[in-house]
Amino acid sequence: MCGISAIASYQPVAKKLYQCLINLEYRGYDSCGMAIFDQQEQQINLRKNIGNVEEVNAVENFADMRGIIGIAHTRWATHGGVTPENSHPHFSNDSNFVIVHNGIFSNYQSIKKKLIAEGFIFSSDTDTEVFANLLQSKYQEVNNVELAFISALKELEGSFAISMICTFEPEKIYAVKKDSPLVLGICDGANYVSSDINAFIAETKDVILLDDYEYVILTNKQYVIKSLADQKIVKKNIIKIKWDQQTAQRGGYSHYMLKEIFDQPLTIKSAMHVSDEEIKKIARKFIDKSQSFLIGVGTTYYVAMVGTYLLAKYAKLYVPAISSDEFPTLVQAHSDQHMIFFSQSGETYDTRMAIKVSQMGGAETSAIVNVVGSSISQMVNDCIYQGSGPEICVVSTKAAVSQMVILYRIAMETGILNGTLSIEKANDIQSNLKLLPDIIEKLINEESGFIRQLAQETNQNKNWLFMGRGIYYPIALESALKMKEVTYIHAEGLPAGFLKHGTLAMIDDSLYSIFFLPANDGSELYKTTLMAIEEVKARSGKVISFCLVDDLETQNLSDHYFVIPDVDSDIMPLIELVIAQLFSYYSALHMGLNIDKPRNLAKSVTVG
Ligand code: F6R
Repeated sequence: MCGISAIASYQPVAKKLYQCLINLEYRGYDSCGMAIFDQQEQQINLRKNIGNVEEVNAVENFADMRGIIGIAHTRWATHGGVTPENSHPHFSNDSNFVIVHNGIFSNYQSIKKKLIAEGFIFSSDTDTEVFANLLQSKYQEVNNVELAFISALKELEGSFAISMICTFEPEKIYAVKKDSPLVLGICDGANYVSSDINAFIAETKDVILLDDYEYVILTNKQYVIKSLADQKIVKKNIIKIKWDQQTAQRGGYSHYMLKEIFDQPLTIKSAMHVSDEEIKKIARKFIDKSQSFLIGVGTTYYVAMVGTYLLAKYAKLYVPAISSDEFPTLVQAHSDQHMIFFSQSGETYDTRMAIKVSQMGGAETSAIVNVVGSSISQMVNDCIYQGSGPEICVVSTKAAVSQMVILYRIAMETGILNGTLSIEKANDIQSNLKLLPDIIEKLINEESGFIRQLAQETNQNKNWLFMGRGIYYPIALESALKMKEVTYIHAEGLPAGFLKHGTLAMIDDSLYSIFFLPANDGSELYKTTLMAIEEVKARSGKVISFCLVDDLETQNLSDHYFVIPDVDSDIMPLIELVIAQLFSYYSALHMGLNIDKPRNLAKSVTVG
């Protein structure tokens, strides 16, 4: 949540900073602003307002701002409402220091009181303005920018990524991080700081990842990274980023969500290219440790749940999935455990806290993460990068499906090690997973029209139930979450077998239920899900189902159905999930909603 950018250049920075803000907007979009040092006036100019980046630019005209060094911020409100005053950047009272900040200073109230007693005046409700004024106060004491910066940071607790410029050293950007991401982009003639590589990927692919408690002082020609603890210089490697700007852009698609759904054939291929060694290393831990847990939150909790079903099926192991936010309450971590964490962004606060709790107890930790160099990837013992490329839409699609594919591979490998899955069967499933990209590509190209039409027909519906049994249950949960996020319409996911234990009371002819089913193979899973459909139909409920073209039994019971290709039953759940993603997308499209940036959400939830 919130995106930070800063540039020190030989050239005017306003336009580039604006582009960085656009590229970071998925992290938060309720207000934004920019501060640039103007050499002619020898002062920092600041413009900010509420609205998304384009809206604010239309009023504030960022391109007008003169200067070759500046900072910028796009906000997702945490402390203080969405007002121009609470938008970033924030000046110190004397306008000599200006700050952008991501994270939360947990003890800011007490410091604010102290500063007010010293005579400081606050114009916002933010914790960030406290840092700006504390900096001014410290500078008045020590008369040295670096020492003031360090001394102010030492007083504040919580999480932060900060960039700062000031009139005393107008050629320098100061930046620091703890528990919030911050990366440097290094190139000839300009150096960048940002919350995310995507901000400056068009300018440079040479990147340095800052670690917690490191700060950087950077000009247009050099950078020095130091440790906050002792101010010693830290040597860091430059990483070459492989993806390009095009991967991060929308291409011809009307929304990132649609592009990212259509990206899935490629991202599944990347998931299949994760090395066997990496998969085996994690699988081994399920065998070696006496207890394991799968942990994520939101979509990645549902990813974890899919893992529970896969490990039960292939490795005959019960590995519970736990939502990251509930993890500290539920689990007593110890050294004979293995925890595997799932996170697209690699920055999610609840998941980071669950890792910390695990590590304090001495548990072995692994993670599957999309964003290279993210906090979670650095925290765990072993990290698999899923290689899905940037996921820009706030709502997760391709990252989740890729993580599920990696889980298939881990569960199969665990089954082989455990002696519960034959190599032949594993090869069989592996071959089917390899077919998945082509199957999905064909499906989304051929079926989009029908899915779109059905989304339009059911558009007035105000309540959805999404149901499935077995592995189709987390698929139903994840599909319901997609619907809620992009349409703002109530969608409840539940196990199909649970229906008759209460929720059935809701069924009438105005309520739509979507059923996720396996193929009509005579299995218990199929038969018992069909029974739930019958329960709904008997009460005049509306039914949409997934079925094969020749499954007349399901079709006759359904008001509408998505025809699924006759593929191996192991990979069927992933195909149904992709169709459900598209269905949610088109439902929101017909409603004219802001699909890539749903209200009240942010891509990366770095606060608790
Ligand atoms: C849903 C969604 C969120 C995230 C959750 C965890 O579409 O995007 O529920 O899945 O906030 O985020 P990561 O995966 O970044 O840890």
